[in-house]
Amino acid sequence: MMISTRFTQHSLVTEAHKTIRCYQTNPNISVDATMGNGHDTDFLTRHSKTVYAFDIQEAALLSTEQRLQKNNRLDKVTLIHAGHELMNKHLPASVTIDVFMFNLGYLPHSDEAIITKTKSTLKALEIAINYLSHTGIISIMAYPGHAGGRSEMDAIINWLNSQTANYVITHIHSMQETQDSPRLFTLLKL
Ligand SMILES: C[S@@+](CC[C@H](N)C(=O)[O-])C[C@H]1O[C@@H](n2cnc3c(N)ncnc32)[C@H](O)[C@@H]1O
Repeated sequence: MMISTRFTQHSLVTEAHKTIRCYQTNPNISVDATMGNGHDTDFLTRHSKTVYAFDIQEAALLSTEQRLQKNNRLDKVTLIHAGHELMNKHLPASVTIDVFMFNLGYLPHSDEAIITKTKSTLKALEIAINYLSHTGIISIMAYPGHAGGRSEMDAIINWLNSQTANYVITHIHSMQETQDSPRLFTLLKL
């Protein structure tokens, strides 16, 4: 599969949100595969009918719950204390999903050892692609500057390259990119 490249002046978080909004104006079901402090979950609840959000840290669930409560959108989301590699055990079996967001790495200002790992990330991506609706999008923010982050990103690039179905895959770089800057990948179903 060919991966296109583009550059953005925006922050990659903004770029991820903008790209998702562009392709999925009113998603039915969205998934935040790495809830963290809930910024992405909150973004997804603004436009989606239903959101499922996953994290392995209790602190992430608490922080996200508070954010959504404050913004009055808690009723739209199911917060799940589990690894994204087990998403299929928690998502309804007979649905398709319009948006998956992966923002890899560790929870900012927290234990940097609790970090996404290549093996479980690839397992989760495989689950995501099998659930993806016919106009769905997966966004993946990868952090080559984090411990283990570069090999995780390389494995993701290999995984994207190995896709044989008809997807549009884009590698988005920040204009201010350095070697260790985050990178954004999007996969759209055609
Ligand atoms: C960069 S943070 C996510 C930021 C978040 N999306 C936000 O908007 O605040 C990465 C998160 O991934 C979580 N994480 C690590 N391994 C995970 C796994 N196997 N499944 C789900 N979440 C995981 C970490 O606990 C951390 O909270």
